[in-house]
Amino acid sequence: MKILLVGSGAREHAIAKAIARSHGAELFSFMSGKNPGIAKISKEWAVGNICDVNAVTNWTKSRPVELAVIGPEAPLNSGISDSLAQAGIPCAGPSKKAAQLECDKSFARNLMKKHKIPGCPKFGVFSDASEASRFIDSLGEVVIKPAGLTGGKGVKVMGPHLKSKEEAKAYAKEVLEAKIGILPSVVIEEKLIGQEFTLQAFVDGKNISPMPAVQDHKLAFDGDKGPNTGGMGSYSDAGDLLPFLTQKDYGSGLETMKKTILALAKEGMPYRGFLYGQFIATKKGVSVIEFNARLGDPEAMNVLSLLESDFAEILRQITEGNLKPARFSKKATVCKYLVPEGYPEKPKKNERIEVNEREIEKLGAQFFYASVDERENVIYEMGSRTVAVLGVGDSIYDAEKIAEKATSFVSGPLFHRKDIGTKELVAKRIGHMKELRKI
Ligand code: AMP
Ligand code: GLY
Repeated sequence: MKILLVGSGAREHAIAKAIARSHGAELFSFMSGKNPGIAKISKEWAVGNICDVNAVTNWTKSRPVELAVIGPEAPLNSGISDSLAQAGIPCAGPSKKAAQLECDKSFARNLMKKHKIPGCPKFGVFSDASEASRFIDSLGEVVIKPAGLTGGKGVKVMGPHLKSKEEAKAYAKEVLEAKIGILPSVVIEEKLIGQEFTLQAFVDGKNISPMPAVQDHKLAFDGDKGPNTGGMGSYSDAGDLLPFLTQKDYGSGLETMKKTILALAKEGMPYRGFLYGQFIATKKGVSVIEFNARLGDPEAMNVLSLLESDFAEILRQITEGNLKPARFSKKATVCKYLVPEGYPEKPKKNERIEVNEREIEKLGAQFFYASVDERENVIYEMGSRTVAVLGVGDSIYDAEKIAEKATSFVSGPLFHRKDIGTKELVAKRIGHMKELRKI
């Protein structure tokens, strides 16, 4: 099968590798910058604006592509799936309408409310700052979210980002006045306390095939300190659960995702693609932080590295509506991102890096290129998450040792979190959950 991949980060490199492993699959890639890892395994590739849906569709139409898979949310929000479908190329990625689940947070919350989907926190959607202020007064601690896409940088939480209700009100006003996230509304939610986890699934419009749960680490520095990032690394355990997660928690998350898919189908916007649920396990149960209309970055690397089923076949099933349950090996994974010194606030940019791919592979580890550029056989980091490495093992701790060792084969002015997947950090997560649930 000839498959188009749109996107050029480490998540897309993981998707590209999974396609390359599939039986009889050939990869065609449309990237926003040259990812040397993706380029190397593509039959043909191009660099351009991945949100220019006409450009992507025209490039694809003149090639023998049979099916498309979309990495990031921005092209989904631009309607790439609809445009490719019109050109006769089915897409494992939701339509613009269904992608509102990620691209408009007010849509997601209102859908949950209307269809009584479990796990929805108290929330309100506002386009008027004084009404937003009154709602903030009616809640305890709050979270302020621009409704539209902000590249993960628009959400502010009372405590870490907003010190008082006055600051929360001022930020809600700023979101509306400065049109942060472009859409004209702000979502205000009660702040939930607990452990976050990611549950991803393949979806074909009605059937859902879940993957092992993953935990991402958003804060830049060891010990969960420093500013928020796109995600510094992630781990998954052998099997579907995480060390702090019960089967009941996993089941609640899955139930919520199933009901969401059903609700979208009822609303006339069937969802096909990857569904990413960001959940929080609290003392009262599992709630939804947000949905994404794509795989997670870095979480895609954890799950795709364990996938035993043929990925290209899954993509075909997603587009044809006959999805079967996917199989994953019962191993643990740890993924660590190397990022430029100064990231995320003042990252070094355009510095030369080297990835000793052979040594990483000798360890049995994997590497994924992210924000890099290749010029005359030299790789430069581009100021954002640069390279991810991943270890697979019988336990999280075995996988962590492999991933940590693999980081030593990437050189350049980069740093990474040494604590992701270590016994100390995982014990902290388990301790927090025990304390919340008093068990
Ligand atoms: P989002 O972009 O919606 O994933 O939000 C970014 C981050 O803000 C999440 O990963 C959470 O850590 C935090 N967050 C979002 N919503 C809530 C909430 N209702 N309660 C507590 N934290 C939240
Ligand atoms: N790891 C967070 C995300 O992909 O949104």
